[in-house]
Amino acid sequence: MSLYQSFAWPVLSRLDPEDAHTLVVRLLAAAQRSPVVLRLLERAYAVRDPRLEVEAFGVRFPSPVGLAAGLDKNAQAPAAFAALGFGAVEVGTITPAEQPGHPQPRIFRLPKDRALINRMGFPNQGAARARARRLAAPRPLPGGAVLGVNLGKGANTPVEDAARDFVAVLDALYDLAGYAVVNVSSPNTPGLRGLQERDALERLLGAIAARRDSLAASTGGRRVPLLVKVAPDLDWEQLGAVLEAIDATHVDGIVATNTTLAREGVTDPRRTEAGGLSGEPLRLRSTEIVRWLARETGGKLPIAGVGGISRPEHALEKLDAGATLVQIYTGLIYEGPTLPAQICRAFLGRRADVR
Ligand SMILES: Cc1cc2nc3c(=O)[nH]c(=O)nc-3n(C[C@H](O)[C@H](O)[C@H](O)COP(=O)(O)O)c2cc1C
Repeated sequence: MSLYQSFAWPVLSRLDPEDAHTLVVRLLAAAQRSPVVLRLLERAYAVRDPRLEVEAFGVRFPSPVGLAAGLDKNAQAPAAFAALGFGAVEVGTITPAEQPGHPQPRIFRLPKDRALINRMGFPNQGAARARARRLAAPRPLPGGAVLGVNLGKGANTPVEDAARDFVAVLDALYDLAGYAVVNVSSPNTPGLRGLQERDALERLLGAIAARRDSLAASTGGRRVPLLVKVAPDLDWEQLGAVLEAIDATHVDGIVATNTTLAREGVTDPRRTEAGGLSGEPLRLRSTEIVRWLARETGGKLPIAGVGGISRPEHALEKLDAGATLVQIYTGLIYEGPTLPAQICRAFLGRRADVR
């Protein structure tokens, strides 16, 4: 058992899940204010090795292990997460203006299934606050980690006007982003997932990509790669339509997957809570989607594989299925802060095997 499981988890698991989440992000935000603490965290946790570096959509990542969106919604602690050894930290989902999200409770633990259900509904402080916070915090991120920005639509914005919101968040954070993700797959914003349909998605991605191109031209040519994050509940035909829209708009990559509405294989009585399920029960479905996407695109579209990674083998499974990058959220909650390092060591071990 790790120190986290022996000491931190018994305390955190007694708190309401959202209170535990808020506490941990606040502690990490405080930690990143001190360069000394940041260095200590880095020395204790991060595995740094040039053999871990990967390149995807023209961006160099110091390691393929990223923090998935939703944990650092307001960009409060990306430097601290980077010091734990994450090669990318995806902040958000960020909407143009501050919004409260759904009423609490809205995160539920299903410990026997090593899963969570959430119906947060994008609570966040809005793009301007995230920008101000990033400008005041350590940059670049420790170890050269890449900042991802997950873009969202406000709860009160009609779906037909969604492009306006995604563009507004991109505008606000463009110069600070290493890549940006168009999130059309959270199950907790009514109508959002409908934007994954072929024509709606092509229109949306076309508008965001056009804006990205003009921002690139006006900021000295730095072209921030755009990715789309998809739901695991799409069938092959629907995923095929997503690929067509990606192809038509020259989007740079895909994040697979968000949380699921399915409850297969889940035994905890809290399975009846409304919201998106993450963690172990999602793992094989998201890997299957990564494999399908890699095959359909001939390995040419970079994929960030996310869903149910709580052990190093699970991350290797995603890479073997065709992912270039992986991301974790729920696994970090149950396993603790050594998970990125464990995964990095497994990657290095595998490289050594190959030689
Ligand atoms: C509490 C919680 C909040 C989340 N919030 C977001 C979000 O705001 N935007 C997003 O794109 N994904 C969000 N996600 C989804 C994760 O980024 C990830 O895609 C999903 O949880 C599957 O990975 P996991 O099994 O490693 O958790 C959230 C997940 C959880 C558990």
